[in-house]
Amino acid sequence: MAPPLSVFKDEAKLDINYIPRRLPHREKEHRLLMEFFNFLLQSPGKMSQRVIVTGEVGTGKTALAQRFGADITSETAKKGVNFRYVHVNCREYRGKFFLIMQHALATFRPTFPKRGYSAEELLKTLMQVLDEENAYIILTLDEADALIEREGSETVYKLTRLQEIRTGEPQRMSLIFIMRDLKAIEKLDASSRSTMQQNVIRLEKYQKSQLIDILTERVSMAFAPSTVAEDVVSLIAELGVTENGNARFAIELLWRAGKYADAENLGSVTPECVRKAVSSIIPTLRKSDLASLGLHEKLFLLGAARFFKENQNAYASLSEVEQIYAVVCEEFGEQPHSHTQLWKYVQFFSALGILKTEVTATSTRGRATRISLPSISAYELEKELSATLEKRRK
Ligand SMILES: Nc1ncnc2c1ncn2[C@@H]1O[C@H](COP(=O)(O)OP(=O)(O)OP(=O)(O)O)[C@@H](O)[C@H]1O
Ligand SMILES: [Mg+2]
Repeated sequence: MAPPLSVFKDEAKLDINYIPRRLPHREKEHRLLMEFFNFLLQSPGKMSQRVIVTGEVGTGKTALAQRFGADITSETAKKGVNFRYVHVNCREYRGKFFLIMQHALATFRPTFPKRGYSAEELLKTLMQVLDEENAYIILTLDEADALIEREGSETVYKLTRLQEIRTGEPQRMSLIFIMRDLKAIEKLDASSRSTMQQNVIRLEKYQKSQLIDILTERVSMAFAPSTVAEDVVSLIAELGVTENGNARFAIELLWRAGKYADAENLGSVTPECVRKAVSSIIPTLRKSDLASLGLHEKLFLLGAARFFKENQNAYASLSEVEQIYAVVCEEFGEQPHSHTQLWKYVQFFSALGILKTEVTATSTRGRATRISLPSISAYELEKELSATLEKRRK
């Protein structure tokens, strides 16, 4: 027997810590960061900068900062500037200022003793080291809300006013604060707040088409050719939008769906793999919900489940589902309900979050509604519905 073929070409490209060379739909923000820090290339030491990057979960804040950090590092190196980009996740250090400073200092002085110094002493030492080495740094405080929550505004004040105490000397440290929202800042005193709020880069939630671009690029890096169809990418992007435009969620789904494809040795990622992946992350279906449905609601949903189980299409038209529903009705000795009534079922199931509907433009008749079963395994759904319908028959 031939060894099982994986759909993956390079799974590491889907790792949450992987930073792609290009970040689609964050080009503008990347350019803006480059402009803010352009002085590092032209006249390092003449000034320093503070920037806030904000946006909801999975909008690319960390990825953008890391990408920018790597890019500015290579640009400064070309100019012969002694520069380091240091990215610290404050939550990893439980928001403790002295642990964060320890980490920052360790990038220059790995052997510096870990004990016996306060955060202020470490900060002072860091500044001395920068002077000694004629070096510059951008310190990115990722999840900075953790730091502010724990240490309060005083710490931020110390950090942001650092350069002002060093009048006449080269300015060596710039700061990037990353936070999901600006609530933590509102609590700060007026002067720290104003120094921080000067440059805010806000990352908006991703729209479906943007997630499609992001996913498509990852697919080409991580998957073997022709193993992930466009419809599958579209389905995942839709689910990403439902989860607030969260790219991390979408990429994780893509990876898990690939895992389900490999587990069954399918050779390609099917919509059913996506549904299994999403139900493994968020269980959407409760059996009690199904049991309480009316008879024809169950029969209709069973028709939809069978359609998606038997088809590799991610989307169906109402008439396609209607045809299978008619067969199901025959099986159960029931008279099928009208098209208009079925339409109401579709609306109902889409309100429940079981089916999803979307109006699309067609080449022939203008507009059509397409139905998908985004987040429940068609196989599981059929099994559950058949079980409750059987019970009723007995
Ligand atoms: N524009 C993009 N292009 C390619 N990949 C992206 C893009 N935006 C985000 N990603 C990927 O999505 C995932 C989540 O992004 P990231 O970790 O940067 O989000 P975040 O805004 O920092 O979220 P959190 O608030 O949870 O920390 C990462 O794997 C990242 O590489
Ligand atoms: Mg992050």
